[in-house]
Amino acid sequence: MLTGRSVVGLEETKSLISAQAPGVSIHVVPGDMGDMEALPHLCSQLLAPLGAAKHKKTILINNAGSIDDFETPFLVKDPKKLQDFFGINVTSMIVLTTRFLSASSSLDAPPLVVHITSLLAGFFVPGFPLYSTAKAARNAFMGVLKAESPGTRLLNYSPGPCDTQMYEGIPVELKKGFAEVVKPETTAQKLVKILEEDKYENGCIIDYYD
Ligand SMILES: NC(=O)c1ccc[n+]([C@@H]2O[C@H](COP(=O)([O-])OP(=O)(O)OC[C@H]3O[C@@H](n4cnc5c(N)ncnc54)[C@H](OP(=O)(O)O)[C@@H]3O)[C@@H](O)[C@H]2O)c1
Repeated sequence: MLTGRSVVGLEETKSLISAQAPGVSIHVVPGDMGDMEALPHLCSQLLAPLGAAKHKKTILINNAGSIDDFETPFLVKDPKKLQDFFGINVTSMIVLTTRFLSASSSLDAPPLVVHITSLLAGFFVPGFPLYSTAKAARNAFMGVLKAESPGTRLLNYSPGPCDTQMYEGIPVELKKGFAEVVKPETTAQKLVKILEEDKYENGCIIDYYD
């Protein structure tokens, strides 16, 4: 199940996956994780196939995210923008994750939640006030999940600075001091290896450069 707002982007991702893994069944569900009214229906659509077939494992990867406007010093002109930001980056992640865990509870397949986090959750630099706050909140939520459901496998993965649209959009002066840029496929491969080996401490944070 793949979700995001851009149907074109989702179809492109679907084609890339099909080319690498022919035969894998891929469903595209377009939706806006920032639309709080539509969110419950989007979650239902995404989770509908969970019980429909026998799976060895069910994995939720919370990858969707957005970034600040990089204004320094930060001044909130419109509080609604803040609410929207935390809707996309925090609320939707919590809603989808809790619904995923609830839907998985009656299945034989053990659930695994991966949270795509960032070093900026704990490393504070100018220009990223909302991004850092949202990632720290998500890390905290994963910490509470670990305490509440020790049987659920949980991983916070920080992919390193990746060569993506998000990274492209960050002003050059704000990227000074960041580690060397990683290709998305390289960091994704590292994440897959970590998941396959399954040796990580539950609920830990692993960075690409660890
Ligand atoms: N790039 C980096 O250097 C870096 C470093 C550390 C952590 N990360 C984290 O890695 C994750 C992926 O980032 P990226 O670099 O690939 O960023 P990106 O190029 O901006 O992609 C963001 C992804 O999130 C989806 N998304 C954004 N807003 C959404 C919304 N309202 N509803 C549904 N989906 C939404 C986008 O799909 P649509 O546009 O189709 O909606 C896209 O798939 C993020 O959580 C980011 O914080 C990135």
